[in-house]
Amino acid sequence: MNRNLTALSGALLLGVSLAAAPAFAQVAPTTPPDPPKFDAQGEPVFVNRSDILEYKALPSYTEPEFVKAFVDAGKLPPVAERLPKEPMVYKTANQPDGTGVYGDVMRHVIGGRPEGWNYWAGQSYGWGGIDIGLVECLTRTGPLFTVNASDLQPLPNLAKSWDWSEDGKTLTVKLVEGAKWSDGVDFTTDDIEFYYNDIVNDSNVKPLNGASPASYSNGKLTVIDKYSFSLSFETAFPEAVLYNFAYGNFCPGPAHALKPHHPKYGGKSYDDFRNAFPSDYMNFPSLGAWVVVEHRPDDVVVLRRNPYYWKVDEAGNQLPYLDEMQYRLSTWADRDIQAVAGTGDFSNLEQAENYVESLKKAADPASPAKLAFGPRTIGYSLYPNYSVNGWGEPDANQQAIRELNRNLDFRKAISYGLDRQRLGESLVKGPFTTPYPGGLYAGTSFYDKDSTVYYPFDKDSAKASLAAAGLTDTDGNGFVNLPNGGADLNVTLLTNADYQTDKNLAEGVIAMMGDIGLKVTLNALAGKDREAAGLAGKFDWQIVRNGTELITVVQSTTALAPVGPTTSNHHQANAKGELVLQDYEKQLVDLVNKFMATRDPAERVALMKQYQKIYTENLDGIGLTAYPGALIINKRFANIPAGAPIFMYNWAEDNIIRERVFVPKDKQINAELHPNTLPGKPGEAGPVAAN
Ligand code: GLA
Repeated sequence: MNRNLTALSGALLLGVSLAAAPAFAQVAPTTPPDPPKFDAQGEPVFVNRSDILEYKALPSYTEPEFVKAFVDAGKLPPVAERLPKEPMVYKTANQPDGTGVYGDVMRHVIGGRPEGWNYWAGQSYGWGGIDIGLVECLTRTGPLFTVNASDLQPLPNLAKSWDWSEDGKTLTVKLVEGAKWSDGVDFTTDDIEFYYNDIVNDSNVKPLNGASPASYSNGKLTVIDKYSFSLSFETAFPEAVLYNFAYGNFCPGPAHALKPHHPKYGGKSYDDFRNAFPSDYMNFPSLGAWVVVEHRPDDVVVLRRNPYYWKVDEAGNQLPYLDEMQYRLSTWADRDIQAVAGTGDFSNLEQAENYVESLKKAADPASPAKLAFGPRTIGYSLYPNYSVNGWGEPDANQQAIRELNRNLDFRKAISYGLDRQRLGESLVKGPFTTPYPGGLYAGTSFYDKDSTVYYPFDKDSAKASLAAAGLTDTDGNGFVNLPNGGADLNVTLLTNADYQTDKNLAEGVIAMMGDIGLKVTLNALAGKDREAAGLAGKFDWQIVRNGTELITVVQSTTALAPVGPTTSNHHQANAKGELVLQDYEKQLVDLVNKFMATRDPAERVALMKQYQKIYTENLDGIGLTAYPGALIINKRFANIPAGAPIFMYNWAEDNIIRERVFVPKDKQINAELHPNTLPGKPGEAGPVAAN
C-alpha cells in the first residue's frame, strides 16, 4: 500500500479528520541496504585449537640472559622452578614466523588513563590493551578468529581442561598446576574462590567489564582441591559459561593482595577496597606476561616482563619474547598518527575520520607500519534508557523520557529521522561505512538479512511517528513539547568525549533530530566518567561503540538482552534488583536464554533469526553506522597472524597473542626505558636490577 493510502486508512480507522491524516504516514520498513563491498586484507590460517597450544613439561627451559643474572645473584629461583609442572606451550608450527628471540619493546599509545589496579572493583587501567596484558582468564577467545568452525570453542588458558557431567549440570575445571603470580605466590583455587564468592557474587562489588552471576548461569562453586573446582547449574550444558570464562569476565585477581582489603575480611569499606591499589602503586601482582613498574601521570605507563610467566615456546623459551611494553598516555587519535609515523608501534584504526590520511601514509613503501583492514565489526548504536523503576534515579522529566523511550512510535521517529548514509559519510567518504539498523552486524555468522527490519530515513515518517507518540509542537517553536503540553521535550545524549568519532556521531544525531523537531542535548563525558554514568543508568539516550555480542553472539551472550539485573547496557535493575521488562524485551530474554540452553547448531541459528527480527522490529538499540577497522603495526614485529581483526571476540591486543610476538635481532630498536630490569616487590617503587 502506498504511503498516502496507509495514512488515509489509518486516519479513517482512528476516526480523525482528514486534515490530520498525513501525521500518521509512516513508510513501511524494509530490509537494510547491502553494505558496499570491502574486502578484508589477509585471510586467517584456519586451524584446530590443539594446533595452537598444549600443556606439557619440556626437557629444559631458557630465559633472557639478563633474567639469568637475577638467578645467579640469588634474587630469583631458577626458571624451571618458576614455571608450572606443565607450562602452556605454543606450538612452533602455528607461530607465523616460528620461534622468536628475546628483546625489544612494543610502544602503545592510548587515550585512557589508569584509575588504579583494582580491576575487580571496577577500576579501569586506561584500556588499549593494558588490562588485556595484565589479567589472564580461565579461557581465551581473542585468537578464535583463526579456529575452524568445526572446532569452535574457547581456548584453554588458566583453565587447562574442563568436563561436563553426563547430565550437563556440573562443569569441572582443572587449572594449570603450579602457575605463580608475578610476586612468586602460587595461583590456586583460593584465587578462584575469592573471585567468585567475593567479587562476582558480592553485589557491592562491580568488576570492570561487568562479570555477574548471570555470566556463569548463577552456578554454584565447589572447590575440589588446590587446582580444581566445579560449578553446578540448574540447566544442562550452559556453554555460554565457557565463553564468559574468557577476557572481560573470569579473570581472577590475586586473592593474597586483594582479600585483606575486602570488607568481608577486615577491609574498612567497599570504597577503601576499590581504592586500595591506586595508580601509583607499582608491581601489583599479575598473571600476565608483563607487570606495571612505572606510571608517570599523563605521560607513560611502563611494563616489564613477568619472570614467573607460565607460558613457553616449544624450544622451552619462557615467554614473552618482548621485554617491555610501553603505553604513552596521549589520545586515541594520536595512536593512529604515531603508529603510521613509526613513533608508536600499534594501533587499532577505528576512528573513521583518520582513515584517508592513515591509508595514504601507509601506502608509501617506505612506511614503517603495515596497515590491514579486517571485517566490518566496528559499529555504533543509540540506546534509549528503558528503566522506569529507578535505575539512575531519574527526575520527573527524565522519567517522562524513559516512558517515551518505551513507546515504539517514539523509537521509530528516531530511526526514520536518521540519515545513516550521510551520518557514515560525515566520518569518511568511500566504501567504508554502511547504514546499520541495529542488532547483529551484516557479514557475521548469525546475521540474516531477511530477519532484519529497517526503518529507513524519511522525515515525514519521523514526524508522523512523533505525532503517533503523542508529541506535538504546542508552542510553535519548532520543537515538540512534552506530552502534558509542558516545556520542550529535551533529551540528553550521553557520549564518549575521548573519541572524535563518538562526538561526531552524537553531533550528527542531534542535528538530524533537530530537523524532525526533537530537541537533543549533548552530554559528552571523558571515558571513565562516561562509563560510570552508563553503568549507573544516568542517561536518557547514549551512543555506544558496540561489544562483541553483536558480532559473535557466543561471546558475552548475556549482554544481548536483560537476562540478569545488570547484563544489558541500557536496561538494568533498580537497587532492589527489579526489572520491569517491555513485552518484546521478555521475548528477547526468552530467546537468549533458549540460545544459551541449547547445543543444537540449527536451533541456535533459528533462535538468532527470531532475536534479530524482534530486536530490529522493536528498535531495541537503534543502529547508526558500521565499518571495518584496520590493524596498524610496525613492520619490525614478527609472528603477527594474518587476518587478525581489530575487534571480534576481543580486541587485537589479545587476538595477535602478544606474548608470542617478537622482533628479529637485526630489527630491534633501542627504546626500552628500563633495560635489564624486572618488576620489584608489590607496593615498592618499581623496576629492579640484578645488582
Ligand atoms: C580501547 C580502544 C580499542 C582497544 C581497546 C582495548 O577501547 O579504543 O581500540 O585498544 O581499548 O581494551
